[in-house]
Order: sequence, then structure tokens, then C-alpha cells
Amino acid sequence: LSTELRSALVRAVGEEHVLVDPSLTGSYETDWTGRFSGRACCVVRPASTDQVSQLLRACADKHVPVVVQGGNTGLVGGGVPVGGEVVLSLTRLADLEDVDQASGQVTAGAGVRLSALQAQARAAGLDFGVDLAARDSATVGGLLATNAGGIRVLRFGSMREQVLGAEVVLADGTVLTRLSGLPKDNTGYDLVTLLAGSEGTLGVITRVRLKLVPQLPARAVALVAVENTASALSLLARLRTTVATLSAAELIFASGVALVRESAGLAAPFQEEYPAYLLVECADRADPTDALVEALGDCPEVLDATIAGDAAGARALWRYRETHTEAINASGVPIKLDVAVPVARLPEFIDRLPAAIGPAVTDVPDARTIVFGHLNEGNIHVNVLGVIGTSGGEDRAEAVEDAVLRLVGEFGGTISSEHGVGRAKTRWLGLSRTPAEIAAMTAIKRALDPEGQLNPGVLLSR
Ligand code: FAD
Ligand code: MLT
Ligand code: ZN
Repeated sequence: LSTELRSALVRAVGEEHVLVDPSLTGSYETDWTGRFSGRACCVVRPASTDQVSQLLRACADKHVPVVVQGGNTGLVGGGVPVGGEVVLSLTRLADLEDVDQASGQVTAGAGVRLSALQAQARAAGLDFGVDLAARDSATVGGLLATNAGGIRVLRFGSMREQVLGAEVVLADGTVLTRLSGLPKDNTGYDLVTLLAGSEGTLGVITRVRLKLVPQLPARAVALVAVENTASALSLLARLRTTVATLSAAELIFASGVALVRESAGLAAPFQEEYPAYLLVECADRADPTDALVEALGDCPEVLDATIAGDAAGARALWRYRETHTEAINASGVPIKLDVAVPVARLPEFIDRLPAAIGPAVTDVPDARTIVFGHLNEGNIHVNVLGVIGTSGGEDRAEAVEDAVLRLVGEFGGTISSEHGVGRAKTRWLGLSRTPAEIAAMTAIKRALDPEGQLNPGVLLSR
């Protein structure tokens, strides 16, 4: 860090918010999975949009690239440095306005945690449409930048569907503010939704205007044992037509349940072990339990089911699904793939995974694959454990990634359904996007960040 740049950064945010000591910068330099890390030249922690603007201007002047970071729960290495960048941490931008009852919207600073946003919405009798297991750490800015999905996409859509406005600082320090929250506004390009999935490459999000959804406090959750993915899918198709209150449908398998039981010390959900399970949730203002029980009673796919109509029981069932990510990480650094295929072809895709992954891990005796995901969107998380950390592990990991992502391409799917491309999947972007699309994306990037200051190497190759 040059003395000149350091002085400019200190002028913007004060000495105590320019971190250089490795004991302070460490947690900003490694991602949640432990797979991606690099040394930053420093970490800066602005507390306002104006400070973000000053910091970006200073970095642009000195041609020092910037890595943008929210809660650092991203799973594709997009928010951590490679080496020598300034890490811009947005967690101090945590202003959360009162809910605007007239519009049913709220304005949140980029650093507001998802759980804080949910609590604010619920206190006002509403709710926020996106939910995911990293809710206590993931920030509004990161959620929008990755266009996060999660467990309620089936009912309310991804982040892109929740956003009505944003404030963003471009690489040269220019501030664009569009926070009026007009639900209908056809005055040209929609720069706000362009930020969804931009992964910090187009600008730094500092505030977001979000729409809220009705609060549906009465919930029924069922863990349903099924034979395989095809039966889970036909069960879901049936429930779509019979229960209007369906809000989540998550697919897990025996291997994942065994892992989370061991890791979190959970009891067996059933006396018998079954090959696969569909966790379904219905949410409404009136208790949806009877409707769900009745609907499940008519479904031949159900091998067994356990249903919770109270909050504690529902939480207990959700743990079989939600602790997957933590349990996987507790077993080692995973190869993590987040793919989707057209949902009707998901059973065939899952059946073909072992043959695709096998050749890349023939001489790795401890390799094992844990699959789970968001069934409604055909979005499956493929986690391969026991490879990274062995000799030649990174090369094998690349072979596994290449095999799975090519299979995804063959099925007309996407190489990233919700986590983003980050640094982890950049080289495979061409499997999901045509050369013409990549050229258009590159043109947009160059227009807004001509020097390539923001998150270089993330999403698009340098
Ligand atoms: P970070 O990890 O800090 O950053 C992620 C990306 O966004 C980076 O490219 C970064 O540069 C960019 N970014 C961050 N803040 C800003 C900003 N203010 N302006 C511009 N760019 C910015 N994801 C899902 O989609 N669905 C899930 O179900 C889900 N479950 C998860 C469960 C667990 C246990 C964990 C650890 C992660 C999970 N994730 C999930 C991934 C992760 O939580 C999301 O990607 C989340 O949106 C990241 O938010 P963050 O604030 O941590 O962002
Ligand atoms: C999830 O659905 O739990 C997440 O996207 C996290 C993961 O893939 O591990
Ligand atoms: Zn997910």
C-alpha cells in the first residue's frame, strides 16, 4: 500500500477503518468455504455513500483494483482478493429505514444483514421474499449483487424480483441514485435490475429499495420420504395443483441426511432410511396444515411423512435441509457446484452425475458426492468432498467441475443457478452464454468500468 494511497483512504474513512494488520485483515481475505483466498493490500470500511465514492476515486487515481465485499458468505470466490487489491467492506452501511407502509417497501443500506431486514419487515406486519441459511451474515448488497435465490423462490422469486431501486457508486466515484421505488417506470434501461447478478463488476451498491411481501405466519412443514428424484418431482407437480399455499420444496438425499445428522447430532427423521426426501412448506395467514395433510394423503409417491404445524417442529424439520452447507464444510473444503437444468430432466441429470464425476476421482478413495437443492427451479447443489486437500486435488477438482458443467451444458442448463460465476466458474461461462452475449456483457462492463477497477477476474475473464 503506497503512502499516497493510504493517506487518501485514511482521509476518506479515518485511520481505524483502513486495516493493514494481517490479524485484522485475515477474515476478509478468505471466503466462507476456505477454498479461495489472497492477500489484500488493505481493507477499507466506509460508513456512507460519499465515503465509498471518495475511496473509489482514490483507488482509480492510483490504478489499484478494488474487491467489493458484503457479508463474505459468497460461495464462488467473488468477494475475496487474489493479491494486492483493496478490499472494500460494506458492512458499516447498515442504515435500515422504517418500512414505508403506503408502498409496502423499505430502503436498506447495502450492509444490512438479511435477518435484520426480515425482522424489520415482520415488525411492520410484512415480510421479505428472499430467505436463505446465511441470513445472519449475508448483506442486502451481496444478495442483490449475486441475485441470490434461496428457499422461497418458488413463492416470491429471486432478489431481482424484490428490487425496485438502488444507489450505486461507479468505479470512477460517480453516484447514481434511483430510490423512489416506483413500481412502474418505463424511462429507458433498467440499471437497477442490471445490478442483479453483476457480482460487484459494474458498481458498488450502497443502498437498495426493496418491495416487501405479505406476512404469512401460519406454516406447515412436511418432510416426505420418496423413492428418488423422479418421485419427488411428480409429488411436487401434484402439490402445485392441490395446495395454493406452497412456499418451499427442497430436495435432499440419504447421504446428506446422514452427514447432517452426524455433524449436528440430529435424530433420525424416520425409523427407516429412505433414498430421498422432499421438504415442503406451506405458508398462509390461516393454518395450512390440514390442507397439506390432505394433499399428501392423495399422493402415491409418499413412502412416509412427518408433518410439523408448530414453529419448533418446523424448525427441527428445516434443520435436516438447512445444515447441509455447514455440515459439508465441517467435513473439508468441498468442490461446490450450483447448477440448474430444465426441471423435467433433473432425474436423468442426477442419475448421470456419478458417471460424469467418477473418472476424475478414480484414485481418490475418500471422494464422496453430496447433492441437494431447490427442486422447483431444477437447481441442484453438487458438493464433492475428499478431493481438495489431497495431492493434485486442485487439478482433480477442475476435472470434476469441467465434467459436471459440461453435462449441464448438454442438458441445456446453467453453470450457476444462484451463487454466481465469481472467480470459480469464469472459465466455463461459455457453456451457459453465447459469444454474442458475453461480448454484450463485456461492452457493458467496459462502459461503466473502462479501467477494469472493480472485481477484476470476477464473472468475465480479465
Ligand atoms: P459477499 O460474499 O460478500 O459477496 C458476494 C458477491 O457480491 C461478490 O462478488 C462481491 O464482490 C459482491 N458484492 C457484495 N456486496 C456488494 C455491494 N454492496 N455492491 C456490489 N457488489 C457487492 N445463496 C443463494 O443464492 N441461495 C442460498 O440458498 C444460499 N444459501 C447459503 C447458505 C450458506 C450457509 C452460505 C454460507 C451461503 C449461502 N448462499 C446462498 C450464498 C451467499 O449467502 C449469497 O451469495 C449471498 O447473496 C452473499 O451475500 P454477502 O453479503 O455475503 O456477499
Ligand atoms: C443452499 O441452498 O443451502 C445454498 O445455496 C448453499 C449451498 O449450496 O451450500
Ligand atoms: Zn441454494
